[in-house]
Amino acid sequence: MQVVVVALGKIGLPLAVKIARSGHSVVGCDINPEVVELINRGQPPFPGEAELEESLAEVIASGALRAQLDTTAAVAAGAELVVAVPPLAVDAQAQPDWTALDAAIAAIGAGLQAGTTVAVETTLPVGTTRGRIAPVLEAISGLKAEQEFFTVFSPERVYSGRVFADLAAYPKLVGGLSDAGEARGAELYGSFLEADVWPIGSAEAAEMVKLAETTYRDINIAFANELARFADREGIDVARVIEAANSQPFSHVHSPGIAVGGHCIPVYPRFYLEGDPDAALPAAARAVNDAMPAYAAKRLENALGGLQGARVLVLGAAYRGGVKEAAFSGVFGVAEALETLGATALVSDPLYSDGELTALGLTPWDREAIDAGIVQADHAEYAQLTAADLPGASVVLDGRGILDAAAFAAAGVTVERIGRPSTKPTAS
Ligand SMILES: NC(=O)c1ccc[n+]([C@@H]2O[C@H](COP(=O)([O-])OP(=O)(O)OC[C@H]3O[C@@H](n4cnc5c(N)ncnc54)[C@H](O)[C@@H]3O)[C@@H](O)[C@H]2O)c1
Repeated sequence: MQVVVVALGKIGLPLAVKIARSGHSVVGCDINPEVVELINRGQPPFPGEAELEESLAEVIASGALRAQLDTTAAVAAGAELVVAVPPLAVDAQAQPDWTALDAAIAAIGAGLQAGTTVAVETTLPVGTTRGRIAPVLEAISGLKAEQEFFTVFSPERVYSGRVFADLAAYPKLVGGLSDAGEARGAELYGSFLEADVWPIGSAEAAEMVKLAETTYRDINIAFANELARFADREGIDVARVIEAANSQPFSHVHSPGIAVGGHCIPVYPRFYLEGDPDAALPAAARAVNDAMPAYAAKRLENALGGLQGARVLVLGAAYRGGVKEAAFSGVFGVAEALETLGATALVSDPLYSDGELTALGLTPWDREAIDAGIVQADHAEYAQLTAADLPGASVVLDGRGILDAAAFAAAGVTVERIGRPSTKPTAS
């Protein structure tokens, strides 16, 4: 089978490789010439994806995959399946910027041939496949939707870094705009995936599943954060409460923390609310989670006895440990809350240079003495931090529960944790 994959990013490229390894002939398309060139040389354009380097080299060498810039030409060559994973950028309020997605769909439409199935995997507000994508494909191609070509939505549900393992493990959901289209989409996905393929009834249902999975996590974390704030007031250790609650199979409470960041979990509840603006829980969860950086800063202020004029080191610009991604990172809310309380927020991160931190609008740490620290990201190396790494600090707020609190306490430094009693200095 001839397959075209459009947008060879962290999700699209492993998918193209997976399809090529199953025996199909794949053309991958991306608008970035550097990405296309690297892929054609068998080199992944980004690091950190397990198995990608070997598998990409293999399918490029065998000719099963090749990359090119021209999506329209690739689609016009008569692909049976076109899989599109273009990015959907969002602004600071998580409102979609459709530019890249519209451009990719228009390029596909311009080359579309009768008999092709177009599968979109990008996370979308409910109704986008039917209301925005299929009409453009139909108008530009001049072909009749759900008769001469099919459009399906199949949410990408993988985690970057382990895409191949997730593709093999999680059911692949396919939702169509017609029964015939959905059946065709499911058949095509079944030709290259070992995982179960689940026809789910409609494109809207498939779109909603992805928003349900991610919004569930945001709501669950918000509840964990509320438990943590309650536990703080009562002097209870919330980690022990959650562990105990989850020892019974009906309870799956997530972990509290200083922030919910990244391009997915803080964003997709907003997509959900676009379709259902009156939904109470997604909006409440966003408000609870958005308030956590300020809550953490307030906790630090109380522990230090005031932040006016204090130099506070924020550890971690990335939204989570080990990933060089600052989209909607808690670092911005933490820095802003500290500054509002009169402190100077200084930032360090093992994955970012001082220049990169400045470009994000943050102030890099000058390595001079500080008054306090606040852990924003759970970088693995932070587990090894000692008081000597935070010169001058008398208090550290560990927003991710990653520090060795006893080691800090032994060196005379108080460690504050969200939802847990603080660890007071034990040194004489
Ligand atoms: N990375 C993740 O963990 C993750 C998680 C959840 C959902 N997603 C979904 O996958 C989508 C893509 O994410 P990603 O991480 O692969 O993005 P990415 O930033 O790694 O890659 C996007 C690629 O698309 C290319 N591109 C942009 N416009 C294009 C166009 N018009 N035609 C062809 N190529 C184009 C870019 O050059 C880039 O190579 C997201 O919008 C989201 O819906 C990703």
